[in-house]
Amino acid sequence: MVQEILCYKYDMNNNLHNHRILLIISGGIAAYKSLDLIRRLREQGAAVRCVLTKGGEQFVTPLSVSALSEDKVYGDLWSLTDEAQMGHIRLSREADLVLVAPASANMIGKMAQGLADDLASTVLLATNKPVMIAPAMNVMMWQHAAVQANIKTLQQRGVHVLMPTSGVMACGEEGEGRMQEVADIIKAVTAHFAVPGPLSGLRALVTSGPTFEPIDPVRFIGNRSSGKQGHAIAAALQQQGAETILVTGPTVLPKPQGLKVIEVQTAREMLMACEAALPADIAVCAAAVGDFRVADIALQKIKKGAVPPTLELTENPDILAALTKAGNRRPRLVIGFAAETENLLQNANAKLLKKNCDWLVANEVGEGKGFDQGENTVTLLKRDGVGKTASTAWPQQSKDAIARQLVDEIAKAFTD
Ligand code: CTP
Repeated sequence: MVQEILCYKYDMNNNLHNHRILLIISGGIAAYKSLDLIRRLREQGAAVRCVLTKGGEQFVTPLSVSALSEDKVYGDLWSLTDEAQMGHIRLSREADLVLVAPASANMIGKMAQGLADDLASTVLLATNKPVMIAPAMNVMMWQHAAVQANIKTLQQRGVHVLMPTSGVMACGEEGEGRMQEVADIIKAVTAHFAVPGPLSGLRALVTSGPTFEPIDPVRFIGNRSSGKQGHAIAAALQQQGAETILVTGPTVLPKPQGLKVIEVQTAREMLMACEAALPADIAVCAAAVGDFRVADIALQKIKKGAVPPTLELTENPDILAALTKAGNRRPRLVIGFAAETENLLQNANAKLLKKNCDWLVANEVGEGKGFDQGENTVTLLKRDGVGKTASTAWPQQSKDAIARQLVDEIAKAFTD
């Protein structure tokens, strides 16, 4: 069963380090999600300061907002103490991004009209910083011509609108109007601050891990691949800006953050997922794909008998070779791996030519080398336009370091 999962950044990886976000929480049931949003933004390293409208206060308390942001909560335009400590102008300027979540129909209307009758709307009028809003309201309100016109006006003025999603609402009605999930808002905020990497605008496909080829409902043919190298390459490609799809066999690794992960079991599922992921500019086949599968998978668990069973095997499709034969959908740079237990360079060279890939990462496996290890020793083989191969041996290093080095080479190839 091919399972498609979108992974989001929920770990403490400091993507928003040094960024100051002014979060305006306006009235709406979705305000409860803003409490989680504050936590997640802070986990990413952002400094979060909050403005809570009178409407927002009906759904979340200033105390919880203050506790989570570990800061004072601002709400009153006419408070002498607030204005003395942090005037609305300073509040609007001392942020790198103003985020309104949830943005109620009323708040959106005020923004579109340029009204300034409370602290939140005044800050929004006074700010010279980018503004992002996450609308949340009843489906009929969202679809109302007035709200749609206001949204259009805001978009034309450069406000980044995180379009609401569909589903059952707190009011019981169903349709568009739900505030985007916190993970999606975090993703949008992270993308807003992301520095474009050298691989921005390119699509990358990575295969990783082993495949499990079933024998019967409880047994399978697998291998010792951990997926560490492939996962590290996918993460490094993503970090350098490539839109990356990771197609992985079963592993116990955590899913790399921020990229699309497609989980498969067998070689045939892996091939299908890779073909569906095309077009791609870069393909890295790091999976240890099972070369053979059982011709007739037993429908019931095979029982012990007088003689041990004989398994008839049949060859699996070669995913790497299929990608290089994909005609005009062939990725511009196809990189294979060669796991060898002997005659490393000779076998690797033969594989490079046979599978018609552009580069090949050759590594020795077996006896504590390669599979399931933290470190790897590899040689990178590159084929030039006239079919000559140049090889460079890299020193033993961690799989993460190999991934970074390989992705640096890829970036050079695309920028040269
Ligand atoms: N590969 C693939 N599909 C397969 C077998 C291998 O995509 N069915 C890819 C691997 O991901 C790797 C490369 O082909 O990038 C070489 O894999 P390797 O296991 O070293 O070689 P094989 O082609 O399986 O040949 P052999 O096992 O005979 O060495």
